[in-house]
Amino acid sequence: MTVHEAANRHGNDKVADVVVRSSRDDDVNAMVAIYLHHIRVGVDASGSYGFDAPQLTDLKQRRKNMQKRRLPHLVAERAGTVVGYAYAVLFRKRPAYRYVVKHSIYVHSDHLHSGIGRLLLPKLIDACAASGYRQMIGYIDASNCPSIQLHEALGFRQVGYLPSIGFKFGHWTDSVIMQRSLGPGATSQPDMWL
Ligand SMILES: CC(C)(COP(=O)(O)OP(=O)(O)OC[C@H]1O[C@@H](n2cnc3c(N)ncnc32)[C@H](O)[C@@H]1OP(=O)(O)O)[C@@H](O)C(=O)NCCC(=O)NCCS
Repeated sequence: MTVHEAANRHGNDKVADVVVRSSRDDDVNAMVAIYLHHIRVGVDASGSYGFDAPQLTDLKQRRKNMQKRRLPHLVAERAGTVVGYAYAVLFRKRPAYRYVVKHSIYVHSDHLHSGIGRLLLPKLIDACAASGYRQMIGYIDASNCPSIQLHEALGFRQVGYLPSIGFKFGHWTDSVIMQRSLGPGATSQPDMWL
């Protein structure tokens, strides 16, 4: 059973109208708007004051580069509106780490806690596994209980704690590192060259 099937084995009517698909260039404005909201309220582990909105062309180029490496970049869409997105990038560029991804997920503030994260993240996990990646890592602000709980529910375990790693809203913040294996994880040699 895939992670996606396991997460939804009881069904979830709240997200019956939500479609998850690969992102397109014309989704970028909606993704930036979702992201900017969340860094303004401070939940993102990397968010900070002084953040410049990423140039739309940069984001579009980054999305294309990710697709070349079979790195998923997904959106959740409800009635034609992007209500969340999730993507994975390489954990590190050095070749030894080429089977490891780190990911991000954001749900639109009007649609929080309605099942979209639980729909979207398993699809990202499955897509990363299908692309041959073996480990998946998320950096999460230690005060972000919704995200930590969502990740725990989907098989991530806390593997690290970074105290006082961020400074935002006038105080130091901690981050947790959460990790899960993908596919066979470390139980076998990689079966494809990434
Ligand atoms: C974290 C986030 C992606 C979760 O997505 P979501 O669609 O709101 O979550 P879901 O409705 O699918 O809930 C899945 C689980 O997450 C946890 N959760 C979600 N919202 C929660 C809340 N407000 N309080 C406590 N737990 C919560 C619960 O464990 C929940 O399972 P349950 O429904 O059985 O209680 C979303 O809250 C979000 O985008 N937050 C802002 C951006 C962010 O923090 N991104 C992650 C950065 S690492």
